[in-house]
Amino acid sequence: GRPDSGRPDSGRPVRRPEDLRSHQWYGTDGLRSFSHRARTRQLGYLPEEHLGKPVVAILNTWSDINPCHVHLRDRAQAVKRGVWQAGGFPLEFPVSTLSETFQKPTPMLYRNLLAMETEELLRSYPVDGAVLMGGCDKTTPALLMGAASVDLPTVFVPAGPMLPGHWRNEVLGSGTDMWKYWDDKRAGLIGDCELAELENGLARSPGHCMTMGTASTLTAAAEALGVTVPGASSIPAVDSGHDRMAAAAGIAIVGLVHRDRRLSDILTRDAFEDAVTTVLGLGGSTNAVIHLIAMAGRAGVTLTLDDFDRIARTVPVLANVRPGGQKYLMEDFHFAGGLPGFLSRIPDLLHLDRPTVSYDTLREQLAPARVHHDDVIRPRDNPVASEGGVAVLRGNLCPDGAVIKHIAAEPHLLKHTGPAVVFDDYRTMQRTINDPELGITADSVLVLRNAGPKGGPGMPEYGMLPLPDHLLRQGVRDMVRISDARMSGTSYGTCVLHVAPESYIGGPLALVRTGDVITLDVEARSLHLHVDDAELERRRAAWTPPPTRYERGYGALYNEQITQADTGCDFEFLARPGKVADPYAG
Ligand code: FES
Ligand code: MG
Repeated sequence: GRPDSGRPDSGRPVRRPEDLRSHQWYGTDGLRSFSHRARTRQLGYLPEEHLGKPVVAILNTWSDINPCHVHLRDRAQAVKRGVWQAGGFPLEFPVSTLSETFQKPTPMLYRNLLAMETEELLRSYPVDGAVLMGGCDKTTPALLMGAASVDLPTVFVPAGPMLPGHWRNEVLGSGTDMWKYWDDKRAGLIGDCELAELENGLARSPGHCMTMGTASTLTAAAEALGVTVPGASSIPAVDSGHDRMAAAAGIAIVGLVHRDRRLSDILTRDAFEDAVTTVLGLGGSTNAVIHLIAMAGRAGVTLTLDDFDRIARTVPVLANVRPGGQKYLMEDFHFAGGLPGFLSRIPDLLHLDRPTVSYDTLREQLAPARVHHDDVIRPRDNPVASEGGVAVLRGNLCPDGAVIKHIAAEPHLLKHTGPAVVFDDYRTMQRTINDPELGITADSVLVLRNAGPKGGPGMPEYGMLPLPDHLLRQGVRDMVRISDARMSGTSYGTCVLHVAPESYIGGPLALVRTGDVITLDVEARSLHLHVDDAELERRRAAWTPPPTRYERGYGALYNEQITQADTGCDFEFLARPGKVADPYAG
């Protein structure tokens, strides 16, 4: 997985300065260009430093509040270095940060806002090409969604995973081990002293979560799509190789501008199918289902839940990375060959003749790729699981689909019938989950509603509902759980997620009552509520919609525009096809 700077001399001829989009700002006669040149002198640049050169916007999601991106303030300097070397003119734009840990109720509420910001910055400023920097969960899809709508030459610089966690000679995975040790504390197995040590050891450096969570899954998807330099996505955030990769991205973007290779040349139907294959073969996060559908939509590609289920049946899980795999973390994956190594194991499942930001074909890009550790990236005859990690469920409880990451579930629960215990919202669940009156047993099916795109709002990662303390003490570690929420990519358990339509808008989940019997059958891809249609109709007639959550502001816009999980939770007015307006035309 050696990062490659691309070959600016291949393919189409280098464009003349007057062909550049930024020429409209800088190179035309008259007051407009005079003013822009004067203001660039004000920035401290000589004419020969920038005039006629491709202007590269570096969109940086660095922030003091985002530990996953805190190194990107420095890393942007390496991107600039690459852009200057290749003869471009870099300009850094700070954009809003979506910090998975800190932003409430969930950064998912703001993914589309960052996508809008990305689109409008690229559209309204003198930009010929873009370098997008980020990696914490929703940042990758947000930046790529916005950029796909504008369709300039674009390179994505993944933030890179943080170093592995450590505690008392144990290696810890982000999220996954946090949940695990919190359950141990609730079960009385560890105390405050151990917990304080864990706080020091869980996250040891800048960088995104180093399990195969949402961040690692989506940056790998970006690499599989072909919008990063080769091998970029698994480079540890604090490795010197990360600086070199950032410089390589800066060099590559200038070549892409010269060749006018745009995002639309790269983000094809074939590319998205390969990204789905990648996500599934990595045993990646369920969040990728929503984000890839939304990203594809912006690129004018129709991608559906059925594509995921169809492809899942053809792809073995080869990445032995937690939480889907048992043992390893992203740094191990990187040194085992990274994404190029992984892809080199499944060439028959990929579209090898499509271009990437560095090569005219993925086939050329993968030619030097090798796997160096067969337990981390498994061979085809010894997979972690024989089928992709995500299954799509249908049934009267989820007419528009639901998903389950069945490789992170206890096998005995994959076919299960049990009585529902229903919680109307997350806070009620938190307050009452340990109430003995509820009579929850290991066979119960925990149902959470009002946690979807509108009801959550923002579809928070509530999907891994906690188990009651009394069951934890008995050693129960998994139960069937159903919600219209999402689940963290670092979570695990038999959790049915993304139920669509959501309960808040009157989906069938709104009609379930405690005591109703539910059957989950992953093999049959079904989720069934054993209540007859007539009774469901009676319940529907008596159902009243919950009150509106937002009276004003961004929340009101969100509530009005957000689409359901099965179509990617984009905003209707952003997902709609249509031309990007020329900023000079209004
Ligand atoms: Fe940022 Fe996990 S908190 S990637
Ligand atoms: Mg996460």
